[in-house]
Amino acid sequence: MHYPIYRPRRMRKTGSLRRMIRETKLSRDDLVMPLFVCPGERVREEISSMRGNFQLSVDELAAEVKEIDALGIPAIILFGIPETKDAVGSEAYAADGTVQRALRAIKSEKLGLTVITDVCLCEYTDHGHCGVVEREGESFTVDNEATLELLAKTAVSHAEAGADMVAPSDMMDGRVGAIRAALDKADHQDISIMAYAAKYASAFYGPFRDAAECAPQFGDRSAYQMDPPNSDEAMREIALDIEEGADIVMVKPALAYLDVIYRAKQEFGYPVAAYSVSGEFAMVEAAAERGWIDEKRVVIELLTSIKRAGADIILTYWAKDACKWLAETPAG
Ligand code: PBG
Repeated sequence: MHYPIYRPRRMRKTGSLRRMIRETKLSRDDLVMPLFVCPGERVREEISSMRGNFQLSVDELAAEVKEIDALGIPAIILFGIPETKDAVGSEAYAADGTVQRALRAIKSEKLGLTVITDVCLCEYTDHGHCGVVEREGESFTVDNEATLELLAKTAVSHAEAGADMVAPSDMMDGRVGAIRAALDKADHQDISIMAYAAKYASAFYGPFRDAAECAPQFGDRSAYQMDPPNSDEAMREIALDIEEGADIVMVKPALAYLDVIYRAKQEFGYPVAAYSVSGEFAMVEAAAERGWIDEKRVVIELLTSIKRAGADIILTYWAKDACKWLAETPAG
């Protein structure tokens, strides 16, 4: 009996054949653009390690958001830089804080896009940690319960100012439940939660800490963010966040954690977001600047890989670029 030989290459012969059997199709609908809003007026300051990304004052931000909406990108995630920092991150939950003012300005534009806010204290605390801490010489402890109260307050103040979705990135135990309860109590049952469920204590956050001015002043985040070698633990974190009311679960960073993204999608079947972080962006940009790699092709390949691994949503500093590149990519 003669069995015909399967010859995969015959389906790679032409662009149209390749398009027909392409399994993963990256689209602008998958993308979320992170934006940094700062105090002042007419401020548009490029972040040195992040080409094309800026600290924007509220007025400048409004214009940027309109452009993003016009490109058809479905969502932005907002990070705020406060006027002043203190031990308890007061501006994170101030009614006239930077993010709250930005939300009101964006909402008045009546755009279709979804506005997500990052909920964390690290940009707002003078010590740069994501919660309330007590310092003991060179070390410190985080007051988990006191932090939950402030995070919940922050989330409610974002909802009041017009956020559609809140995204807690602090990694305290029980924060999703605390935020869900506080939102519900304040009559914001329809505000969704995207939980940074498996957020690792990663070295890839370097450029972001310049952008958001939130590097810890002492110690590091390894007592609350996850230990990079663990993926079973990531599944436990995700299960907890879902139980506490998360609508979307996030894995962060993305590239070095594709296996975690894959498991998250397989095991839970929930919407999975992946955050392609500042260090991933900076690595590619630095190599592209030297002419060592082809920026466009590498970025599309990377984002497609994150989607292939299982991500439904990709938070990326390339959202605007990728959206333009996808539109101009010739078929094939
Ligand atoms: C705040 C926060 C960080 C990032 C998102 N939210 C920094 C950190 O945890 O140190 C990192 C994003 C990036 O690197 O692009 N908790």
